[in-house]
Amino acid sequence: MSGIERIGVSLETELLAMFDKQIALQGYQNRSEALRDLIRGYLAEEKLGQPATLAVAGVFLVYDHHATNLSVKLLDLQHHHLLQVISSIHIHLDHKNCLEIIILRGKVKDIQKISDKLTSLKGVKLSRMNILTAV
Ligand code: NI
Repeated sequence: MSGIERIGVSLETELLAMFDKQIALQGYQNRSEALRDLIRGYLAEEKLGQPATLAVAGVFLVYDHHATNLSVKLLDLQHHHLLQVISSIHIHLDHKNCLEIIILRGKVKDIQKISDKLTSLKGVKLSRMNILTAV
C-alpha cells in the first residue's frame, strides 16, 4: 500500500463553500474522500480517452420486442463478440418494451465499436453506455 501525503490547497472562499455544500449533499463525511474521488475520476477519464485502455461498460437499450427480428439481431451481435460481452440482463418493462443491459469488457475502442453496433440497430428506442476503466 502506498503512503499518505498531506497537501495544502488554496481556494476562493466561495468556491470552497460551494464544494462543501455539494459534497455534504452527496453524503461525503470529509473533503479528503471527496477530493480523492474527484482525482481518481479525473485520471480515469483521461485514460478512457486512450483507445487501448481496458474498460468495462454497460450498454442500456430500450426497444420494442415486436420490432422485426431485433431480439435475434441483439443475440447475434453478442455471440459475435464473446470476448467483450461478459453478461446481459433482460427486463420486460411492459407489454411492448424491453430493457436489455449488456455488460462489455475490453479495450475502449472495441467497446465503443460494439456499443455503436448495438445502439444503431433498428428498433432500439433509447440507449446509453456507461463506461469505466477496468482498474
Ligand atoms: Ni422482454
